Amino acid sequence: MIALAGATGFIGRAVRDVLRMRGIKVVTIGRRADADIRWPSGGGEFSPADREKLRRTRAVVNLCGESIGSRWTPARRRAIRESRAGLTATLVRGITSIEPRPRVLLSASAVGFYGERGDDWLDESEPPGPDFLASVAREWEEATSPAAAAEIRVVLMRMGVVFGAGGGMLSRLRLPFSLGAGAKLGSGRQWMSWIALEDVVSFVVRAIDDDGFEGPVNVTSPEPLTNGEFTSLFARILGRPAFLALPAAALRLGFGDMADGVLLASQRARPSCLEGRGFAYVHPDAASALRAAVR
Ligand SMILES: NC(=O)c1ccc[n+]([C@@H]2O[C@H](COP(=O)([O-])OP(=O)(O)OC[C@H]3O[C@@H](n4cnc5c(N)ncnc54)[C@H](OP(=O)(O)O)[C@@H]3O)[C@@H](O)[C@H]2O)c1
Repeated sequence: MIALAGATGFIGRAVRDVLRMRGIKVVTIGRRADADIRWPSGGGEFSPADREKLRRTRAVVNLCGESIGSRWTPARRRAIRESRAGLTATLVRGITSIEPRPRVLLSASAVGFYGERGDDWLDESEPPGPDFLASVAREWEEATSPAAAAEIRVVLMRMGVVFGAGGGMLSRLRLPFSLGAGAKLGSGRQWMSWIALEDVVSFVVRAIDDDGFEGPVNVTSPEPLTNGEFTSLFARILGRPAFLALPAAALRLGFGDMADGVLLASQRARPSCLEGRGFAYVHPDAASALRAAVR
């Protein structure tokens, strides 16, 4: 049995469906009434009944987090941080307080951990950046430390932008791009590390049992794209032009700090751990991943 937090999300739904297809029982952790285990309110502890359910799981997959894709007001910043570092800390308190414990915790993180890094190639040994998202990612990862100290194998999934159908960045961009209004952001030279949804799911399934994965893992394809390359490629796949460019100043005016933190930020991640363990990508190149996502 596997516990899955964030099972209602874009990535979580895909993970849940594949695990169930493989005959694995999935126990969901969420805030909705139909979750098998409900998040405790106000940062409290899981109920004894829910701890009993957790006690029967061999792995926990944590894919929660409020969207980062809108203007970061003080309230949004709190929600972004709390739904990652806060919920992860609650989950880790839950799984370290039971016996027997799950053997493995796979916890979401993001390449935003590295901050703005221009053209540098970034493997898992690179330090965290200084900006807001990087500090959230660092706290999010650090919140798993008590699990590692309790000898639970912890895998920190530093994901790039996930390309897939039914959610994530592409679902927001598909309409404007289909209308011929796809636009390069700023100079378009910033690197976008990405991964196909099918490959994220396949990584999760493998890392549950593969003890060779432990600690931070760049869950990204081997071929990051610049924003300009992505814009041309996605437009071409949709059969539309994309001549527009949104200047950085306009993005900052519209989105505040989120523009520099997400839209203009450059992270060129190298998936060293995945390559080192011979991970076989379904979609190693962006054209194949984007075609699959819009099919
Ligand atoms: N998609 C990407 O490109 C990408 C890239 C890198 C990292 N990630 C990270 O991977 C994780 C999953 O991404 P996703 O694209 O699947 O996100 P998503 O579709 O927005 O789903 C987010 C999940 O988190 C839950 N959640 C959000 N805020 C919550 C809160 N305050 N309390 C309890 N549950 C909350 C949602 O539950 P409800 O259904 O109850 O709202 C949902 O199950 C996120 O942490 C994200 O930052 C995603």
